[in-house]
Amino acid sequence: MITAPSASFISRRKQLLEQMQAQGGGVAIIATAQEMLRNNDNTFPFRHDSSFYYLSGFTEPEALLVLVADGASERSILFCREKNLEQEIWDGFRYGPAAAQAQFGFDAAFPMEALATEMPNLLADAATLFHSAGVAPQLDTQLQSWLDVVHGKSRSGVLAPQKTVNVRSLIDEMRLFKDASEIALMQKAASVSGAAHARAMRAAKPGMFEYEIEAELLHEFRRQGSQAPAYGSIVATGANACVLHYQSNAAQIKDGDLILIDAGCEFDSYASDITRSFPANGKFSAAQKTLYELVLAAQQAAISCAHPGAGYMDGHHAAVMVLTQGMLDVGLLDKNKVGTLDDAIAHNAFRQFYMHGTGHWLGLDVHDVGSYREVNKVGMERPYRKLEAGMVITVEPGIYVRKAEGVPEQFWDIGIRIEDDIAITTDGHLNLSRDTPKTVAEIESEMQS
Ligand code: GLY
Ligand code: MN
Ligand code: MN
Repeated sequence: MITAPSASFISRRKQLLEQMQAQGGGVAIIATAQEMLRNNDNTFPFRHDSSFYYLSGFTEPEALLVLVADGASERSILFCREKNLEQEIWDGFRYGPAAAQAQFGFDAAFPMEALATEMPNLLADAATLFHSAGVAPQLDTQLQSWLDVVHGKSRSGVLAPQKTVNVRSLIDEMRLFKDASEIALMQKAASVSGAAHARAMRAAKPGMFEYEIEAELLHEFRRQGSQAPAYGSIVATGANACVLHYQSNAAQIKDGDLILIDAGCEFDSYASDITRSFPANGKFSAAQKTLYELVLAAQQAAISCAHPGAGYMDGHHAAVMVLTQGMLDVGLLDKNKVGTLDDAIAHNAFRQFYMHGTGHWLGLDVHDVGSYREVNKVGMERPYRKLEAGMVITVEPGIYVRKAEGVPEQFWDIGIRIEDDIAITTDGHLNLSRDTPKTVAEIESEMQS
């Protein structure tokens, strides 16, 4: 059944076409992701390219979006797999060009086999090629062959595009600002992930294995309709929590361990990214509680910087200030060695225990696209940009204490991160992951229920 095409996708294509017109017109080409072999003839689960999806709404593999802005008119064209009833017995439904055109509101649609004949015609006399080289090597190769055909007609007066604009930079800037329908999906993703974290807290017991807790997360993601985790889930017990990108999730949980879970589902293509840290036996020890309250205070300080007009790095600086003061107070840092708070920050002394940034953009990709620095300026001296309504960030300070000489033993093997998903609104922010248990009292009570 063909339903009305989603207005959001059509209006995003229109916005990009208008930007192309403003730059003198031309042709944009945006391919979806390629299917990837996992082993032998077995592929990884297919995930469309986020920018292709953002403009098309189309989730099948083997597809290309072409936008044509030629001054007088604007067209959006989809190339996709041909309908194939025989193959659909094996792989399931595919739209085919005619149904895809109607369903997704394109001006025209062709089978992929038509690229070789259609693309040289579309590229002939286009002022600018809007393309991002190096993203999809196969597309770069095909593009070269289409341009060769255009060059071959130069004696009849046909011109190939005279310049190239990085189309993904234009799309990245659009994707940075989420509309209401995107925020609603991100809220759904964060709510499902929050329920999964709560489920993991209730299930966890000393003696279980990290993968058993991972299974609880995955069960809740899928049970609530999420298609996949947005990234590899981290379930790290004890010293493993100090490994920032821990992935094996294979160790047995011991009484007295803290467990760090960094896991978020993808819901209808939108990511969530939540971290919680909790005691395996349901009760924080005094040392665990001391560091936990410190990270929580740092996170609250960073979240209070999440409003329009704040600098992108303000939250990080606020978190570093709280964490460093706390490290001095509890003896992780020695005042006699690192000096005052200002000295310890200026010389990055905190990095022994807090060595990553405090967040990133979040959206269709977990580490979402968009410049962190002011656009329309060049060079690394560009200032960080200001937060604006529609941006979504994570706020994720942590503290990671490895066994080392001079480090108080009571804190060894404690790794803590607290991560929430924060949408910037016109008057402040909305914490999308607000329902995930977070205070010591909330976590201990969730674990007892
Ligand atoms: N889970 C990836 C991150 O927190 O950035
Ligand atoms: Mn995370
Ligand atoms: Mn994150």
